[in-house]
Formats: sequence, C-alpha cells, structure tokens
Amino acid sequence: MPSQQIICLGLESSCDDTAAGVVIRHPNGKAEILSNIVHTQTDVHAPFGGVVPELAARAHIEYMDKMVTAALSEAGVTYQQLDLVAATSGPGLLGGVIVGLMSGKAIALAHDLPLIAVNHLEGHALTAGLSNGLKPPYLLLLISGGHTQILQVNGLGDYLLLGSTIDDAIGEAFDKVAKLLDLGYPGGPFVEQYAKQGDATRFSLPRPMKGRNNCDFSFSGLKTAVLHAAKAIEPIKQQDKYDICAGFQQAAADCLEDRLKRAMQIFRNNKNMADDETCSLIIAGGVAANKAIAKKLDILSSDHNFKLIVPPSKLCTDNGAMIAWAGIEQYLRGNISDLSAPPKARWPLYD
Ligand code: KG4
Ligand code: ZN
Repeated sequence: MPSQQIICLGLESSCDDTAAGVVIRHPNGKAEILSNIVHTQTDVHAPFGGVVPELAARAHIEYMDKMVTAALSEAGVTYQQLDLVAATSGPGLLGGVIVGLMSGKAIALAHDLPLIAVNHLEGHALTAGLSNGLKPPYLLLLISGGHTQILQVNGLGDYLLLGSTIDDAIGEAFDKVAKLLDLGYPGGPFVEQYAKQGDATRFSLPRPMKGRNNCDFSFSGLKTAVLHAAKAIEPIKQQDKYDICAGFQQAAADCLEDRLKRAMQIFRNNKNMADDETCSLIIAGGVAANKAIAKKLDILSSDHNFKLIVPPSKLCTDNGAMIAWAGIEQYLRGNISDLSAPPKARWPLYD
C-alpha cells in the first residue's frame, strides 16, 4: 500500500453534467472529497424532453473551465499541489467526452501532470470505495439515463457483466413516460412524485424479462405498454397520470428486483460465498435516487443476506469526484495515459 498522499482533479462531461472535483487519498488509503462541483444542463435539454448531444457539447465547452476553477478554489488547492489529473474519456456522447478529455490534456501539459483517461463506468463502479471505503468484491447495479447494468466488481479493472438492458436504459424509460404525460424534465423525479398518489394496480403492465435465466433487462416493451394504456383512456386526467406513474414505477421496480435476485445467486456461486456470508450490493446512477426502488431493493437485499449501499445522491449521479478517485486507483497501479488517449463513444468495462 503506497504511503504517499495523492491529490487528483477529476473531470466529467460524458452526458449532460459538466463536473469537476478534487479528491485526496490520504497515506492510510482513505479518500476525502475536497470539492465536487456539478453543472447540470437541465435548462438546455428540458424543451426537448431528452439530452441533445450537440447542445450538450456546446454547454460543456461553456462550463468546463468554470467548473475547474470552482473545484480548485473550493478545495483550496492550486495546480502546483495536484499530483495528477483524470478525465472521463468514454463511454458517452462523443462531443462532450472530447471537451473534458481535451481540458484534462491541456491541464496535464501546462502543469506537467500525469493524465489518467478514465472509463466513466469504472468511475461509477469504484464510487463505493470513495463514499464508504468499500473494497471489492461486490455486486453493482448501475441505473441511469444511459446505462442499466449489473456488474460483478472483482477488483480494479476486473469486472464481469452479469446483465444489461437489451434496449432502453431504465432512466430513459422514466423520462419517456414523463414526456408522454407532459410532466417535466428530467422525468424520473416527477414520475416518483406522481406515483405517490396513484394506484399501481389499475393498469396491467408487463414485467419484461421476468423469470429469465440471465440477468438482462428490457424496458422498451414496458414503455410501449404505458403508451397504449394512456391512449386507451384519452383525454388523460390528473388521477390517470398518478395511476400510470404508479403502475409504471412498480413494474420497473419489479423488473429490477427479479433481475437482481438472479444476479445475487450468480454472484454467490461465482465467488463461492455461502448463504450465511454477507455480500454487498451497491446501487449507482440517477435512478438510485428513487426511494420506492431503493426500498424494494433494500428488502430484497436483507432477504438474501446482501448489505445494500446507496452512496449519497451527489456521488450516484455523474460527478468529477468519482472520476478523480478512479484516476487515483489507476495511477497507483502505474496506468498513466498517453496525451494521445482517444475519446471513445463506446468502451465496455469487460471483454
Ligand atoms: O446518472 P444520471 O444523473 O445521468 C446519466 O444518465 O448519466 O441519471 C439521470 C437519470 C434520468 O433518466 C432521470 O430521470 C433519472 O436518472 N432519475 C430518476 C430519479 N432521479 C433521477 N429516475 C427515477 N426516480 C428518480 N427519483
Ligand atoms: Zn453516469
């Protein structure tokens, strides 16, 4: 275990958040977040009900330098005090990834710092180490607007994909249901609020992939079923909206529960862990903020002797601190990137 203190600036711009954070790794291995500044481009994308890549890239250009300055200032750290700079280099919307990566390269070059080109998914995968000091192995459920995956995290750079969506991401489905009902953007929090006043049993909605032997997801059919249910009762009144949201959220949560149950069995088998040994389940991504989903997964976890860890929502959604932490982990293993490191739209964590 290296005994030096390491300070890293992390940059994130792969979707609709422009973010910079400063993280220090103390000599005892503990992480401390000195700053974590995020600018979310809600106003830019709200009129379209979803992220518009070209507009996202332009907004990242406008905000990235401001985020870096604010992150260093809040941390009370100068460029000279940094040991390295880490930037997301994929996967994500290419225009945005280029902005953060080029900024990272410019800082590395100007201040003679090592650059770490970080896989965004690895940032999410290692967040439990940053927030809770948790070490692998653990099971990770990543549920966001762009990703829906279950990963077995064995160690740094050692990930096994147990399941992923074969069509829409779960957050995307929440956003599309909200758009259909004209609730607002991003849709997830609106759907959750509306669901509180609804009857989840009124509409009969499917649970795609439920009972399958693998751990994959599908949300496109559920979204279409919601569309048909809504069309059938037009004109839609307020209570209809509440009931549709409640039905959709329950169906989505049931799918997560069923697929995770399967993943828990596979994880235990893969790791040779007995039923009475407690394992860890981490949830990350914007949808992890949904309390109804978190509650359901909490019950599932206790039933299967898993400890559920949901990092604070600022660390669940896209942020610079998680990129800084993944950068530090890679740096400690000597994985320093070349200044020619390319931006990647696609970059799976596993072979
Ligand atoms: O991780 P994130 O901030 O950004 C990326 O997609 O990378 O996740 C955003 C997604 C959006 O689809 C948003 O609607 C969803 O997370 N979301 C929620 C909730 N809060 C955010 N979905 C359901 N319930 C919520 N409370
Ligand atoms: Zn993300």
